Amino acid sequence: MERDEKKIQLPDMTPLLSWYEKNKRNLPWRHTRDPYRIWVSEIMLQQTRVEAVIPYYERFLARLPDVAALANCPEEELMKLWEGLGYYSRVRNMQKAAKCVMQDHGGEFPHTYEEIRALCGIGDYTAGAISSFAFDVPAPAVDGNVMRVVARLCAYGEDVLSPAARRTVTEAVRAAQPKDRAADFNQAMIELGAIVCLPNGVPKCGECPLRDACLAHAEGCEALLPVRKKAAPRKITPKTVLILREGERVALRRRPDTGLLAGLFEPLSLEGHLRVEDVRAWLGECGIEPLYLTPLESAKHIFTHLEWHMVGFEVILREGDGEKIANIPPNGAENPLFFAPREEIDKHYAIPGAYRAYRPYM
Ligand code: ADE
Repeated sequence: MERDEKKIQLPDMTPLLSWYEKNKRNLPWRHTRDPYRIWVSEIMLQQTRVEAVIPYYERFLARLPDVAALANCPEEELMKLWEGLGYYSRVRNMQKAAKCVMQDHGGEFPHTYEEIRALCGIGDYTAGAISSFAFDVPAPAVDGNVMRVVARLCAYGEDVLSPAARRTVTEAVRAAQPKDRAADFNQAMIELGAIVCLPNGVPKCGECPLRDACLAHAEGCEALLPVRKKAAPRKITPKTVLILREGERVALRRRPDTGLLAGLFEPLSLEGHLRVEDVRAWLGECGIEPLYLTPLESAKHIFTHLEWHMVGFEVILREGDGEKIANIPPNGAENPLFFAPREEIDKHYAIPGAYRAYRPYM
């Protein structure tokens, strides 16, 4: 902690552990001490809700039951296992880390906080979670849930997204954590944030084991905390999605190897919101007159810093016209289109969740 940074102190946290024992949800990753399984769960739980994670977690581990299996999984299959979870760099980093565990740690997941923290894609929170849950290392695990709980317990009004606030809260948690109950303490803090000390101004203080000690509750300001400085507004990108169908096959292309949704597969899209006559004209320039051209619903997908606002069309091509379009990369730099039958798309090609609205047409 830097010299002038504010220090905060958590109250007596004893009631938290007994509350956790009685109220914890029965979640699959709470029945294991295998660091690999805990790691998979924690990476999936970043940015994704518990209920959405459970089926992915089960399927991922059935196919890739250990670090060696993850290290050796072909990329396209790995992307398919992650399809719909989003933030695909999470799983790419996991595979890099798995290769590192195989090469540098003899295939055994490391046991110390520092070695775990050094793996690709593992930050302070995840290293604290894995090392405490799997090995009882007394390390704090401060995620957004814990930041919110502490901000309210201590009526801490600094911007919780700032690095200084994270340091302050981490030190307060470290001081309050019972060294012989590190895992349960961390899980209990996360659980309290997830099911009682809820975000968006609706905490269930009546159910909270710590309400008598909570400064925000005493001051009546729990709905105003935590403070988050407004992020820059997201850039809005208008797109036109074209589902090009030739017989039973649909056109896809692989996104570039770097950047947003790297290496995933998608339908053709053009910049801006085109009207039906614009699409017809664009196809005409490719030498194509479609059999049918049908507008689909519009859709929006929100990324961290970006929003895609999409309009869509289904284009039924004449037999043989697919080839004409496959050879025209629309903006010069992209990979070429190819046509794939539906079963193959379902089995092999990971399509980002951003295209969910158009998936039924593919
Ligand atoms: N969110 C992050 N980690 C979690 C965990 N271990 N259990 C429930 N929710 C979580």
